[in-house]
Amino acid sequence: MQMDWLDGVAFSGLKSHWLDWSEGRRALVTRLVGANQGHLFEGWELKGASDALKEVLLVKLEGVERNYPRGVCGYVENSRRLLAVARGGENPFEGFVPEQPDRVDVTAFDGLYDRMEALGAEQFDRMGVVLVAGGLGERLGFGGIKVDIPVESVRGTPYLKLYADAILAMEVRMGAGCRVPFVIMVSADTDEKTRASLVANEYFGLVASQVHVVRQELVPAVADHEGRLALGARYELLMKPHGHGDVHMLLHSSGLARRLFGEGIRRLVFIQDTNGQVFNAVPAALGVAVEQGYDFMSLAVNRIPGEAVGGLAKLVRGAEALTLNVEYNQLDPLLRATVSPEGDVANAEGFSMFPGNINVLVIGMEAYVAILEETEGVVAEFVNPKFADEERRVFKKPTRLETMMQDLPKLFSPEQRVGVAVFDRSWCFSANKNRVADAAARQRGGGPAESAATAEADFYHAGRARLRSAGMVVEEADVVAVQGISFVPGPRVVLCPSFAMRLSEVREKVRGGVISGEATLILDGADIRLEGVELRGRSGLVIEAVPGACVRVRGRFENEGFERVVLGADELEDVAIAETVRMRGYRMVDRGAAVFRFEEPGVYEVCGELA
Ligand code: UTP
Repeated sequence: MQMDWLDGVAFSGLKSHWLDWSEGRRALVTRLVGANQGHLFEGWELKGASDALKEVLLVKLEGVERNYPRGVCGYVENSRRLLAVARGGENPFEGFVPEQPDRVDVTAFDGLYDRMEALGAEQFDRMGVVLVAGGLGERLGFGGIKVDIPVESVRGTPYLKLYADAILAMEVRMGAGCRVPFVIMVSADTDEKTRASLVANEYFGLVASQVHVVRQELVPAVADHEGRLALGARYELLMKPHGHGDVHMLLHSSGLARRLFGEGIRRLVFIQDTNGQVFNAVPAALGVAVEQGYDFMSLAVNRIPGEAVGGLAKLVRGAEALTLNVEYNQLDPLLRATVSPEGDVANAEGFSMFPGNINVLVIGMEAYVAILEETEGVVAEFVNPKFADEERRVFKKPTRLETMMQDLPKLFSPEQRVGVAVFDRSWCFSANKNRVADAAARQRGGGPAESAATAEADFYHAGRARLRSAGMVVEEADVVAVQGISFVPGPRVVLCPSFAMRLSEVREKVRGGVISGEATLILDGADIRLEGVELRGRSGLVIEAVPGACVRVRGRFENEGFERVVLGADELEDVAIAETVRMRGYRMVDRGAAVFRFEEPGVYEVCGELA
């Protein structure tokens, strides 16, 4: 190999280290210089000065070399190619006409919903769950990891426990020996705390070997249109997140996708870090995916035209058809330029033809494994530099390649089926993404707050919807506003996954009854039956029953229950109070709820006052 360049004055510092380095490191540096990255090594001080900083730079480069398919030079090549496209300013949707996607409407709890749930429930032993939990969570600004935040504050169930509980409940329904694989994608920001949470909680009852933690890494920032990697301070290689599409790369590079497929897993359900509603929808979603034969299915919600949520559309160009998430600010102009001069308009029910993407995905393994092998898991990368000049050569700041998990269908062939299942919004999606002040401002602007308080309120709302579907009378509390965020605080209904994974199970187990106001009902156990239970005011009833404990509950329960105590202004600033409490603006205090725990199998009866 020609190494004359190393004798140049610019590289004298680099050369002073050369003999100390491994063959691999020297080869990498040589390849990088050949790939127009000489600036990373030019003008180095001689050995003995800033050695630690130089080492960090090289270790970062070696990390990218290991983690990115085809290494750092592959990344540089991809950057150059995609930057040339970005510079051309080409419209990615040129020639495409948007149509309504293939969709199944499961917004109502009707016969179709039941059928889809029943079909989906047959799939529990052939599915895996993939949680993408590598995000920075900058908008929430929480000190810990988002999956450790309680979704509700009566029992304080963290998201991670809720997801594990749902997985355990699905396994129980398939009988002994069923293990639903659980893949968690973390990043440098969330890795340690996620693992610590799993270990401290003994994997929330899961078996350690069914939980697979994979870690996404940062990618180098790119300084210019020639793909030169960006330096910050001297010797500092700037790195940035690559996006949640990394999950595909990691499922490939870890060998997990292929292995799980070999073990009989037929579908993966991709979920996000804070969505307490997601497992409400998973059984029916699996049913829709199976019945329709979708290789890729997005869960979606009805969307009002113009709403700041990506719309799912089928983009048609000649024989080509691509069902994709189109960002809302691209959808309207695309519609105006093609089929609808008025842009994105409402149908008779007030909704857009293009349902809103909530980024919960059901992906069929057969197509998935094949695509991953073909692409090495690099899924539809894109780059979005902000240009500082008219020639579109100079960037305002360094950029980087990005990838989004929902873009996988861009790699599908025409015979692969992509579709959408539309669910009721509060049933399938509610996130905790925003710090209080921002959430309040969003709500004032007419958008969803997506805060801790609204995520908790929606969680209870879904519980109430299930009780209603079983015929219980549910009277909601009045709307309250806490820290400028409005929500309905009750009744607080938590039907744990152990109690019900499907609506039909709720109907089997609940007969009649009334719940109203800020009453609380928590049911945790497979064999609990409610008959005409009445809970009003603030009364609370908690039933926990181990497997084999059959509990029949009847009558009216009246007690001081759980009180939602709003924090005072001083408490909101008090760092001695947990951040997870302050982000809600209230705490829940047990004032004497009726709590019944059955820790041994047997037949039990719990009787309140009978009319
Ligand atoms: P969000 O949109 O919530 O982004 O990600 P975020 O990075 O977590 O939060 P902000 O934008 O900084 O406030 C949607 C989902 O994708 C995951 C998140 O953890 C969340 O579950 N994600 C996002 C990753 O796993 N990796 C990423 O690089 C980005």
